[in-house]
Amino acid sequence: MTALISEQLATDPRVLQARELLAMALRDHQSKLIGVKVPDPGRAIEYAKLIAEFSCARAGGLYFPYLGSGIGHGSLVELADGSVKYDFISGIGVHFLGHGNPQLLQSGISAALSDTVMQGNLQQNSDAASVASQLLQLARSSGSKLEHCFLTSSGAMANENALKVMFQHKPGSSRIIAFEHGFCGRTMALAQITDKPQYRVGLPTTLAVDYVPFFDASDPKGSITKTVNALRKHLARYPGQHAAMCIELILGEGGYWVGDHEFFTAILTELKANSVAIWFDEIQTFGRTSRPFAFEHFDLAAWPDVVTVGKLTQLCATLFTAAFKPQPGLLSQTFTASASAIAAAGVILTMMSRPDLFGPDGQNMRVHRMITQRLKAISERHPQLLHGPFGIGAMIALTPLDGSEAKVKQVLKHLFDRGVIAFYAGNKPARIRMLPPVPVVTENDIETVCHILESTLLACAGN
Ligand SMILES: Cc1ncc(COP(=O)(O)O)c(C=O)c1O
Repeated sequence: MTALISEQLATDPRVLQARELLAMALRDHQSKLIGVKVPDPGRAIEYAKLIAEFSCARAGGLYFPYLGSGIGHGSLVELADGSVKYDFISGIGVHFLGHGNPQLLQSGISAALSDTVMQGNLQQNSDAASVASQLLQLARSSGSKLEHCFLTSSGAMANENALKVMFQHKPGSSRIIAFEHGFCGRTMALAQITDKPQYRVGLPTTLAVDYVPFFDASDPKGSITKTVNALRKHLARYPGQHAAMCIELILGEGGYWVGDHEFFTAILTELKANSVAIWFDEIQTFGRTSRPFAFEHFDLAAWPDVVTVGKLTQLCATLFTAAFKPQPGLLSQTFTASASAIAAAGVILTMMSRPDLFGPDGQNMRVHRMITQRLKAISERHPQLLHGPFGIGAMIALTPLDGSEAKVKQVLKHLFDRGVIAFYAGNKPARIRMLPPVPVVTENDIETVCHILESTLLACAGN
């Protein structure tokens, strides 16, 4: 077999040398990013103008005045105003390997040399096939029956594809069951499943959704009874009409509320008995607990019919069992994802098949302990400053001060100005959530961020 021309290009000494030079240049410049830096006053006017123009163009302000400069180093990122900040939200869970990751530089170079910018349904490269196979391997090694994997470019599209295969699987069904306060995306259909009225103001009802309460850790037994009763009521009211239940095993946008095995199995048993498809939306949870899939963390591998993943994978996917295989024509799209996203997904999924990220003492759980121990220490020193911590693995939350939306906003803004990027989650009480870049974050980063958090909370408590 002769080498493909693309393989010859990949191993061309000029390419290899260019790779090394680029890696070296990145390393050299990254080494200047060593901690928080305030904005450069000389850039302030131009930066404010850029933010204002962009906000106007997109018909809505940015949550933070954040425009990246294009370089970062681990959990540090440089902004176009010259400031350097700790990124403890990772684009809401996307930049799991942090900023300026050398492995992702290499996968990006491979992608740039791989002929096209975007790969699509009609024409994709062999690396798209490898990524689908990597995801299925991970899913199967958990003992699940997931056999198919359809790739796409956003979480919302992965969830739309999930809805399609589940409705097609149960002809005549028209309803979905979901958790109260869950988040599922923002398309016309998903905005109905997402239980947040503000996200569907002015939209017509496109999908009938019945909600049940999520797990209440303060009353585990009562919580099971309450949710199963609510579920039974919906199932009895609309017999045979529910195609699926959308299950976030840890409510993400809802505030990092965590369920448990007993609670979930009680619900899943009910769903199975009524032929309602079990759909785990793992777009935020994938890769962030003690196992690659959160359904493994909760020991639920035998249950899912459909699982969606996204965010840290860079591209998104809908995995499903053989029974849910769609008829030809149901799933298709111009874009699978960008070549660089597909190449990066390959790197990230390879990392996930190694043991050091997972398990009770894997990096996810170690980082969790490092952060939560410090949050607990803050709350012991100043009980009025925070409640919590909450969450699991690399999904960590706290309720600051009175837990009002206004206070959370104020704390987040001050944190941002002091060099830490986090984000809100939930409502009544509102929380601050963190999605740290686990494989690259250091104990020193965590110490500094928690120190900044404590001083910010103290400052915000005073006014
Ligand atoms: C659980 C969950 N589902 C779906 C989505 C939608 O993903 P995307 O924003 O990529 O469309 C998100 C995004 O935050 C999510 O957290």
